[in-house]
Amino acid sequence: MKLSYYGQHYSGPSAIVTLMDDLGSALRAHPGLLMMGGGSPARIPEVEQLFQQTLQQIAGDAEQAQLLLGRYQGPKGDLAVRELLAQQLAEEQGWPLTADHIALTNGGQSAFGIIANMLAGSSDMGHRTLHFPLVPEYLGYADAGIEPGSFSASQPTIKFLDDGLFKYTLDPALTIPVSAAALCVSRPTNPSGNVLSDAELQWLDAAARQRDIPLIIDAAYGLPFPALHYSDDSNPYWSDNVILLLSLSKVGLPGVRSGFVIAKPEFIEAFSRANTILNLAVGNLGPALALLLLQDRRLQRLSREVLQPWYKAKAETALRLMQTALLGVPCHIHVPQGAFFLWLWLPGLPISTTQLYEELKLAGLLVIPGDGSFFALHSPWQHSHECLRLSYAVSDQCLQQGSVILAQVLRRIFA
Ligand SMILES: Cc1ncc(COP(=O)(O)O)c(C=O)c1O
Repeated sequence: MKLSYYGQHYSGPSAIVTLMDDLGSALRAHPGLLMMGGGSPARIPEVEQLFQQTLQQIAGDAEQAQLLLGRYQGPKGDLAVRELLAQQLAEEQGWPLTADHIALTNGGQSAFGIIANMLAGSSDMGHRTLHFPLVPEYLGYADAGIEPGSFSASQPTIKFLDDGLFKYTLDPALTIPVSAAALCVSRPTNPSGNVLSDAELQWLDAAARQRDIPLIIDAAYGLPFPALHYSDDSNPYWSDNVILLLSLSKVGLPGVRSGFVIAKPEFIEAFSRANTILNLAVGNLGPALALLLLQDRRLQRLSREVLQPWYKAKAETALRLMQTALLGVPCHIHVPQGAFFLWLWLPGLPISTTQLYEELKLAGLLVIPGDGSFFALHSPWQHSHECLRLSYAVSDQCLQQGSVILAQVLRRIFA
């Protein structure tokens, strides 16, 4: 095959494709494996029922079904849902938004890819990078940059907490490279379950503004939906210097491939032009479901009253089970403040996390090795070879069995 640099880059080896592939084939080969590796949301009957009813409501109405299936949306997506979301965010958060501040997307992953390449890479200003001020970060970002060296990153500070817990915070001596085209954080953070504080976000926003570059906040797990924040001291954040990414996936709709970008109108206009060239239009199902779920604010209520407490309780159960099972194993767990992952740090791990991943798979447990989440760091860091991500969007039985398998394998490896 004779491919362009673009073709070679996107069809070559990449962490996210290898991982999605391996998780899929491992499950096909061993259907009994305990799946704590993926990023799928949990199955919650009440939530599934609501989505099914909403889908039936649309499908049962000839006019709505025709609008769902039989037309393209304009470049920014359905006006009614953009107007409604802007109005509700203005009322709930005091953000001065109009429909022109919002574009619909085919999910956070595709939105991130477009935005990253709109900002980072070659330009009149030289080669510029999207800078991650705190890694580990979402593995799915790693290969999204078309040009080599599109991303850069800074190490965090590690704070040790009680009960073997730890927490990443922004390095107080953080310097933003002069070549930075934007800063980017996921909040809550995949993979660590960290939630940057309001003060940290304000600091990043001010530092970005000083450089005249935007701050990208990927709130795929965050506020206002699905609202998977477990402490009271983190609030939704937006300013006219922020590009905020929202997604319907972690609410329970990853199959719908739908999300929102919220930014100043000038950026939304540019983004929606790029999105139209690459995608022609966004899918209609996400916006159609969102419109019905936003009317009477069911989406926000579902997030606050069902999803948030459900995942918070799971986080507590998962942490308790892991801490009990791993007693005596050299392991710190990142304090689970949001999203639905436990992030384990195994100081002195004598094998690579990929070998550990394989050992765990053989023993019946699927996890995610952590190395890939430190993708944009350009200097060696031992910590980046000692971490592991486990999803707790699973049954209590799976958590229980998974913690036993993990403890057995780690005890053998550290013996
Ligand atoms: C932080 C983060 N951003 C974006 C995505 C992609 O989400 P979407 O399904 O909206 O493309 C994920 C998926 O796991 C994620 O963890």
